[in-house]
Amino acid sequence: MSRSAENEIDLLREQIRRHDHLYYVLATPEISDGQYDELFAELVRLEDEHPELKTADSPTQRVGGRPLEGFETVTHAVPMLSIDNTYSPEQVRQFDQRIKKLLPDEQIRYVVEPKVDGVAVTLRHEAGQLVLGATRGNGTQGDDITVNLRTIRNVPLSLVSELPAPDVLEVRGEVYMPLKEFERINQARAENGEEPFANPRNSTAGTLKLLDSRIVAQRRLQLVVHGLGQIEPEDVFTDGYYAALQSLKTWSLPVSPYCEQAESIEQAIAICDRWESEKSSLPYMMDGMVIKVDSFVQRQQLGRTGRAPRWCIAYKFAAERAQTRLLSVSIQVGKSGALTPVANLEPVQLAGTTVSRASLHNFGQIRRLDIHEGDAVLIEKAGEIIPQVIEVIHQARSEGAKSISPPNTCPECNGPVQIEYDSRRIAEIDGYSKRAEREKKKAEKEQREPVLPPEPAPLSPVDESSRICINPDCQAQLVERLRHFVGRNQMDIEGLGKALIGQLVETGLVKGLAGLYRLKVEQLFDLERMGEKSAANVIDAIEQSRQRPLERVLAALGIQHVGSKASQLLAERFGSMQAILEAEPEALEAVDEIGPKIAQSLHQFCHTENTRRIVEDLIDLGLQMPGPETVSRNSATSMGAFAGKTVVVTGSIDGYSRKDMEELIKAHGGKSTPSVSKKTDLVVVGENAGSKAQK
Ligand code: IVH
Repeated sequence: MSRSAENEIDLLREQIRRHDHLYYVLATPEISDGQYDELFAELVRLEDEHPELKTADSPTQRVGGRPLEGFETVTHAVPMLSIDNTYSPEQVRQFDQRIKKLLPDEQIRYVVEPKVDGVAVTLRHEAGQLVLGATRGNGTQGDDITVNLRTIRNVPLSLVSELPAPDVLEVRGEVYMPLKEFERINQARAENGEEPFANPRNSTAGTLKLLDSRIVAQRRLQLVVHGLGQIEPEDVFTDGYYAALQSLKTWSLPVSPYCEQAESIEQAIAICDRWESEKSSLPYMMDGMVIKVDSFVQRQQLGRTGRAPRWCIAYKFAAERAQTRLLSVSIQVGKSGALTPVANLEPVQLAGTTVSRASLHNFGQIRRLDIHEGDAVLIEKAGEIIPQVIEVIHQARSEGAKSISPPNTCPECNGPVQIEYDSRRIAEIDGYSKRAEREKKKAEKEQREPVLPPEPAPLSPVDESSRICINPDCQAQLVERLRHFVGRNQMDIEGLGKALIGQLVETGLVKGLAGLYRLKVEQLFDLERMGEKSAANVIDAIEQSRQRPLERVLAALGIQHVGSKASQLLAERFGSMQAILEAEPEALEAVDEIGPKIAQSLHQFCHTENTRRIVEDLIDLGLQMPGPETVSRNSATSMGAFAGKTVVVTGSIDGYSRKDMEELIKAHGGKSTPSVSKKTDLVVVGENAGSKAQK
């Protein structure tokens, strides 16, 4: 019985793998989705009956497993580089000329393929089995997301083919979300009152970072392979990239069916042009083309500059535009009270997705565009950026078009509103009156008529740069502040989405950032869609966030101009929240890369009773906010070659990106700064160094 079950299971697995290959790699399915699901269900049934026959590479093992606590960091065997961008055929020709200069008299063959807008990953198979899948991270180290990548249906868990698999086969590729799936997920999110993902790439990145692989399994992500990492033995692929891709296909690794060879750069450009006009025919988002030298030998000879190889270039398509109609304008209240107008549009297809909202920036912009509700408008989307309304087609304005009046009170809390104007215009007007004053005095002394240039126009609604709700108790602001606070790059509290935060604020359970740490599990039971288990998970996630280091807490406070980078620098310099609270603006500004805007904003935050109270509450509630082990504080004991030294790098150093250099300096006890100052101890001078070397 068991013997025949074993045979049947083997047979089903083989069939399912074959159909996966036909569907995902060859795009020539032989059976319907329904028939496929039947085969799959039968395999699940048999494996449940005979759990002893379950194996890690069975197609059923793509359903995901227990949630993880977090991802492990892994170091890539071969660094994952990035690509330089070009935006015109001329720049592509220059790329070709650079190559020909380095490899004179050589025939260069290119491979051209779509640049898929997704998330870069690496997949490692050892002895034919998938052993590791990781994100690119910073190119040197990434997150181990094997469990999530295993759920992707076209990721082969084992390399089965007539051709024996290499001992180590590491491939690089892009995980992406097909457009249909993206729309399906966003629709579901909208129905659940969750914020929709801005684009398929964000949606893919968000999905791959989920700690619960069972949810990942439900979102139908896909992989396309576009490169190689570590290969052992090293001489498996000797005939170039295009040929290597054909071998990868035999192991069911999904490579792009749209990959083409080009014998000259002009041919490569022609392929790019063709795709630019056909890009919407693809079921996923592409943001350009990638042109690569085919030969691995030539690639080796060309090497890299900084973070990108010399043998590869991205050709980015121009931003796409579409015409639609402005239905209405809604107002969003930001975490600092800014009231931002958002255009609600008649849904329109743009760069592969349906767009129904676009940014209008501020009410000055509405005046400058002279935009009315009901107007025909042009919108533009450049890469990842949110679509913008860029032009109004005034000739097409209908009778019923309605002008838009800015709110005089906060639309959420009715609180008072403060209007701010473009600082350049203010400076222009101030500058003029000072100059005019001086000239008048001078003219009076010299007993002549003053000579004055034309006066700048006075401030008008066109110059309005922001409208801010200044009610400190505005609930909409608090919701946004909390959303920022719990965000992944700040306190990283999972399970606290917009809907739940909204309920916590509305019911008065949370009245400020610190309020999260006073929540009791029972208080959550009465909230909508909140079971005992999820309530406990939320409280647990909040408790865990008490351990977050100083730089995270500082960034989480949402102080204007104080983002992750500034917080990191400040934490390194001051080491404790107390020291930051007490620092004078001059001391803050003395930190490299901290300018007067950041220093003033932070100082004001620390010396305004309401805002300082937030930090004091967090301290009272037991948040330790441990400071980083800073290089400067360590330098006395550090044995690194650069211990205690401030180092500036200028020019390019072959084989190292700016980031690589910064990390190296740091790893050897030094501190890397961008500009030469009195504090600089050493300047590392690379090729084509500029003024910093002289200075
Ligand atoms: S080749 C040395 N090919 O674009 C880098 N990358 O903007 C080799 N990407 O990090 C990458 N489609 O994740 C390559 N067909 C393609 C690609 C592609 C998308 C991504 C890749 C890279 C990013 C750079």
